Amino acid sequence: MSRASRHWALIPAAGVGRRFGAEVPKQYLDLAGRPVIDYAIRAFVGHRGIAGSVVVLGTEDGWWADSSGYAGHPEVHRAPGGAERCHSVRNGLDVLARHAADDDWVLVHDAARPCLRRADLDTLLAALVDEPVGALLAVPIADTVKRADLGRVASTLPRSDLWRAYTPQAFRLGLLRRALDHAQAQDLIVTDDASAVELLGLRPRLIEGHTDNIKITRPDDLALAAFFLARQAEQ
Ligand code: C5P
Repeated sequence: MSRASRHWALIPAAGVGRRFGAEVPKQYLDLAGRPVIDYAIRAFVGHRGIAGSVVVLGTEDGWWADSSGYAGHPEVHRAPGGAERCHSVRNGLDVLARHAADDDWVLVHDAARPCLRRADLDTLLAALVDEPVGALLAVPIADTVKRADLGRVASTLPRSDLWRAYTPQAFRLGLLRRALDHAQAQDLIVTDDASAVELLGLRPRLIEGHTDNIKITRPDDLALAAFFLARQAEQ
């Protein structure tokens, strides 16, 4: 008799935050008294649908032990980071495979996204029941999007079909490992997990989430995240 698939969180946190430009990697910046990464992790730790988590850390990174309230937490395993996000996620899968089965679900969530709502996570988890490929949180695009060429508009993309890809992105462990290995074998650097799966010819499901699930990328985003978290706490 086969057992039911479990769900795990994988949190890539090995980026240096080049676009943010601070000394401290953006996932460790202070947000209302806690590092950004702790908000990303708290959605999963203690959630009864989540069996455990892997956090992927930069090699020289003492920030984790110094600042995270989850350092040493028994449900939070650590993996070493890689050169790009896709390599970090791949390393995380190797550590996760010590605990999880190939048909278990892995929810990959950026450490730099502190405002994930519990309701959006639960909607994503519910969408995985009977889902053959996998699914990601995403938001339809409101702005008109231009493709640029040397500072001038080359074309305007039809907005009705465009979505912003957010995280978590959920795939079965075995499929995600195959997809990332396949992308890497072609020297392709994918910027999210779904793109690796798409390269196998599969079509992940888009699950509409809330727009406040932002990724901290530039200094202004930190104030915005503080505002969103305060508003979520009131609601
Ligand atoms: O750089 P970007 O904002 O796309 O990073 C998204 C997430 O991937 C962040 O949480 C970052 O720490 C992580 N990352 C990683 N390893 C890298 C680059 C980024 O774990 N080499």
